[in-house]
Amino acid sequence: MKILIIGTGYVGTTSGLVFCEMGHKVTGLDLDKVKLNSLQSGKLHFFEPGLDLLLQKHIKEKNISFTNDSEKAIKENDVIFICVGTPQEEDGSANLVYVKSVAQAIGKYMNRYKVIVNKSTVPVGTAKLVEKWIKNEQESDIQFDVISNPEFLREGSALQDALNPDRIIIGYPSERSLNIMKELYSESTCPLVTTNHEAAELIKYAANSFLAMKISYINEIARLCDTLNINVNDVANGIGLDHRIGGHFLKAGIGYGGSCFPKDVSELIFSAKKYNISFNIMESVRETNEFMPIYFLNKIISNLGTLKNKKLAILGLSFKPNTDDIRESPAFKIINRLIESDAIFKVHDPVVTGKMDSGLYQCKTIEETVQGTDAVLICTDWEVYKEMDWEKVKDSMNNPSYIFDGRNMLNPIKMREIGFVYFGIGNY
Ligand code: UGA
Repeated sequence: MKILIIGTGYVGTTSGLVFCEMGHKVTGLDLDKVKLNSLQSGKLHFFEPGLDLLLQKHIKEKNISFTNDSEKAIKENDVIFICVGTPQEEDGSANLVYVKSVAQAIGKYMNRYKVIVNKSTVPVGTAKLVEKWIKNEQESDIQFDVISNPEFLREGSALQDALNPDRIIIGYPSERSLNIMKELYSESTCPLVTTNHEAAELIKYAANSFLAMKISYINEIARLCDTLNINVNDVANGIGLDHRIGGHFLKAGIGYGGSCFPKDVSELIFSAKKYNISFNIMESVRETNEFMPIYFLNKIISNLGTLKNKKLAILGLSFKPNTDDIRESPAFKIINRLIESDAIFKVHDPVVTGKMDSGLYQCKTIEETVQGTDAVLICTDWEVYKEMDWEKVKDSMNNPSYIFDGRNMLNPIKMREIGFVYFGIGNY
């Protein structure tokens, strides 16, 4: 099938390439020429392991191409995916301005029956709005169907997630459009959940919020573990083996970040309020998450005393490993507090570079970052930090040498044997 993907961010690009793998022909449409030129030359404009190779393969085989010509792209393709961003507004709601302008362009240039698939994360009721926005722009009464097909891939493992989804959700208005979606996903072997628009839209928010809830839950348990000298990893393992609970998303730490969980939890709370439903659980999830970086800092302060003139090494800036995305990264919440406290610190990230606007000193190597510091603060669990020679790190640091492990990625017993004063988040 011929597919148009509007919005070439990590969801649009990954989905497009996975459709190429399934044997479809894909056009990527974006207004940003810099992004388009980069993609067309086989280079991703974001960091995502493994995706660049797939991009180069499908460009070479002419399965994917990129354009900024909306009219031509909309006219030539009959299945159109909306994959644009829905950033968070001040009040917590999702901003639909990009979705609206895409819908308007589709309405304006529509020349025959089309299926418009909403992959962007959008609040309940958006499919109906998209229908309305398209209709308002149409010059003649051409039929179309809007489908809600939320995406569940994660940054950092986008390709694997998109190639092997746990399920595909399709909110559909007509058998005609459902059959097209079934044909599109005919290569997939996972369960297909077919439902109405509203349920499909809510499934996405409910899924992300549930995962965020698991993280805040284990973080609360971790704080209890800190007080009782219990290892939170043992607790997570012990409860996660119960298949009703499951072991995923039970890693305690300085909290969740990124462009999805914080935004989607806020939108769900906002929507619930709009319908006079109090969503106390999610309010608490958000509150706990906002507190975790402060909890981490309090732990540092109570062990180091004042932070003024303390020499610190920050390891990790991205909101999670294997991505260069720093949106809502807990590392920056910590850095901002350190700046206020007059601490002296150096930062390192294996992938994030040149994104700091506060004049932070970013080191090229881990060795340079830790050299002569009193404490190492781990904010992102990059594998490279786990694998480094911690004995060498100890030798290059001041004495006593502290590790504050905000991601519980190191073995506390081993670190103490090396001579570090080690603190995790409920990690003993
Ligand atoms: C999340 C969802 O997991 C995807 O299913 C969804 O498609 C995506 O949002 C989206 O809505 O687009 P993502 O934000 O890329 O994916 O990353 P996650 O792996 O979910 O991690 C989110 C945050 O939670 C990270 O800061 C991570 O460090 C933190 N986390 C995750 C924990 O603190 N503990 C855990 O056990 C797991």
